[in-house]
Amino acid sequence: MGDARKYAVIDPVTGKLDRRIFSDQATYDDEMERIFGRAWLMIGHESLVPEPDDFFHTYMGEDPVILTRDGQGQLHALLNMCRHRGNRVCRVDDGNAKRFMCTYHGWTYCNDGALEYAPGESEAYYDALDRASLGLIQARVETYAGIVFATWAKDAPSLEAYLGDARWYLDTVFNRRDDGMQALGPMKWLEPVNWKTLVDNCSDNYHVPTSHLSSARVQSRFLGRPPLSHEVQFASPNKHAFVNGHSLTFRDADDNMPRYVHGVSKETMRLFQDYHDATMPEAERRLGSLRARRVQLANHSIFPNGILGLRLALPRGPLKTEFWHFVLVEQDAPEEIKRVIRIGSQANNGAAGLFEQDDVDNWRQVTEASTSRLRRRHTQDLSMGLGHAGPHSDYPGLVSERYISENNQRLFYRRWEEFMNAESWAQIPLDPITAHFDGTATMRG
Ligand code: FES
Ligand SMILES: [Fe+2]
Repeated sequence: MGDARKYAVIDPVTGKLDRRIFSDQATYDDEMERIFGRAWLMIGHESLVPEPDDFFHTYMGEDPVILTRDGQGQLHALLNMCRHRGNRVCRVDDGNAKRFMCTYHGWTYCNDGALEYAPGESEAYYDALDRASLGLIQARVETYAGIVFATWAKDAPSLEAYLGDARWYLDTVFNRRDDGMQALGPMKWLEPVNWKTLVDNCSDNYHVPTSHLSSARVQSRFLGRPPLSHEVQFASPNKHAFVNGHSLTFRDADDNMPRYVHGVSKETMRLFQDYHDATMPEAERRLGSLRARRVQLANHSIFPNGILGLRLALPRGPLKTEFWHFVLVEQDAPEEIKRVIRIGSQANNGAAGLFEQDDVDNWRQVTEASTSRLRRRHTQDLSMGLGHAGPHSDYPGLVSERYISENNQRLFYRRWEEFMNAESWAQIPLDPITAHFDGTATMRG
């Protein structure tokens, strides 16, 4: 870490990571500018604003943003800051409104961001107020399969290029059905953790048999899940891959089993299997047989802070993260499947979820370990599987030889360095899209 705000925090040869990045305020301030100020950030889902004039209040990093659908159906991401003195112009979580009126002096904005009215334009401003230049600050918005992303960077590449070949994998969950997905939630809570600890954890399956031992035992006993063990993990044919800045793990099997989601149990397995079988022809048409039948996306993160599906790690200072947990369900799935997934998701990864409780404690301690002078001097060790990842004949990205690896973690911190050290998007490397996208699914769904 260091000189003239140039960051060298991960040693690619040894896997040693400078742990000061989890608590240093100046580093955090640079992250807000250089990562959250320029990356494509997940901010919501089209199903949260299905009708004209619907809006949903969200965040881009620390900044409050209103996701609106205007009267013509166009999406906007509007900074929730009145251009006069800075009050929030929207104070509710969601709703339907053509206009937002600031409750300080009454400046009123259309839901496309334009400043429509300011009290006393003639009398107080002598008709000199330049309304056209005082609309709400807008981010660029693009969607992928209904998921809404936004960026403040005018020079950012397209969202399609930003996701790159990661979409080849993401499609297997987010782009399986013609009717798309529906977002439920979010459930929100604060965690005493640095935001990167959660993202790093997304493709860390090494911790699962240890951290989640008791939770997994409960599940094995009551839900009929197979017991988790290191032996099972080490022998697993599943994969760990880093694709264009994004960390993915996926199940690699051609056994006609439905993708595992929280909510599957011995009681509900039949329901999920029937649904899987009934929708397979559609999935094959949309994704081609390799992706429909063989590849099932598992834990993953989308750079910088999209975690495990439509869940957000929103930074709130170096030592605090606001967690937003949505559940995504296929719009056209039977109501019983939606209900079971909703309950299963909350019970495992909601605020009081069995697994979430285990994880938060780890992330809290990893964060806290970077706060004392003594502990800060000693690096983290991310050396697992060094030299054992590379291109794969069937799968895009850098694929580790083993499912259990720290290759994605090392490369995540490398990606972090690339953003932190770049002066503009022109200096941030982006892999070209080389994957073959079989089937009819596109960026638009
Ligand atoms: S701060 Fe919004 S109208 Fe004055
Ligand atoms: Fe976990």
